[in-house]
Amino acid sequence: MICAYEALQFKSKALEQIKCDDRSLRLAKCLDRSLRLDSYVFLSEVAMSLEIGPVCLKNPYILAPMAGVSDLSFRLLCREMGAALVCMEMISAKAILYGNRHTWDLCETEPAEAPVSLQLFGSDPEVISEMAARIEERPFDLLDINMGCPVPKVVKNGEGSALMRNPGLAYEIVSQTVKKIRKPVTVKIRKGWNDREVNAVELAKAVEAAGASAIAVHGRTREQYYSGKADWGIIADVKNAVKIPVIGNGDVTGAASARAMMKETGCDFVMIGRAARGNPWIFRSILEDWPEDYLLPWEEVKTVVLRQAEKTVALRGEYTGIRQMRKHVAWYTAGRRCAAAMRREAGTIETLDDLRALLEKGEG
Ligand SMILES: Cc1cc2nc3c(=O)[nH]c(=O)nc-3n(C[C@H](O)[C@H](O)[C@H](O)COP(=O)(O)O)c2cc1C
Repeated sequence: MICAYEALQFKSKALEQIKCDDRSLRLAKCLDRSLRLDSYVFLSEVAMSLEIGPVCLKNPYILAPMAGVSDLSFRLLCREMGAALVCMEMISAKAILYGNRHTWDLCETEPAEAPVSLQLFGSDPEVISEMAARIEERPFDLLDINMGCPVPKVVKNGEGSALMRNPGLAYEIVSQTVKKIRKPVTVKIRKGWNDREVNAVELAKAVEAAGASAIAVHGRTREQYYSGKADWGIIADVKNAVKIPVIGNGDVTGAASARAMMKETGCDFVMIGRAARGNPWIFRSILEDWPEDYLLPWEEVKTVVLRQAEKTVALRGEYTGIRQMRKHVAWYTAGRRCAAAMRREAGTIETLDDLRALLEKGEG
């Protein structure tokens, strides 16, 4: 039970945080009704819908884990632009075991990006759970286990989406990890292995029974990789089959598709991957309901690219940082008049000054 004053505060905060969002409007209507009825019991239920275990998110929109994309400097921008949760690039549990130095770069975080999810991949329940316990004191909020990566070198070790073919092992991995750490454990899966082996519902039930706090479902099979259309029907099937929060994923590109996914599947959260590349504004655009064809002023794009580059250089040094930024520059400029020239020239930049000079040429 919470008092009327708290309920009012909750309502204004919800509206302030998630301005034009369907969910906030629903929330506001519920709150209005409850204020009239003088009963606030259901509030905990409404608030719970934005929770993953004890972690409360300010809206339902999440940046997907993307190897080579969702590094610290990019995640900070996404958080600033409204992402409720950001996910690190996947990290090999075995690499932690063997003390691979590069791995620590991948799981670097800053307080400004919290809440943040750290994703492990592997196939040995013992190794994954032990490594989860070893890193638990690092500053992250959720531990995610990758059961969706389609890449051959991962799959051939029985890791990533290969776990979709082994629900018993998936159960064991989650169950042992949940027992070894206090932080919530989540799982990211695909629709299935291929069209003949569609078993997301079975997997979701198994990891729920093992103690997972939420499940993200990418509506493609392993065989599809990233081709074809994501099947949102499977996300709805999973939502109907489990009680833990479901994070829908696949083909969300802006406000309209984000809302459509929530409406069609009933998922609790929406995870956005490729459409966020070179477009951290996507989260603001969903929250504020921008039209999908809205083209940002070049000056703003320039400022944000430079901020990301400066941060990346501060973290990785100019040599590595600028090389990492080359692909981001191509993504930031995709679809603009200058795209082709930018993509060509971005491949040759070596210093921050080169990048500044390139951006100055920009749209002109
Ligand atoms: C370049 C790239 C890297 C990815 N890396 C990861 C990863 O590290 N872990 C993971 O679970 N999924 C990874 N994914 C999959 C995305 O998280 C997401 O499931 C997929 O892109 C579908 O969502 P979208 O249609 O919004 O892009 C990656 C995808 C891309 C394109």
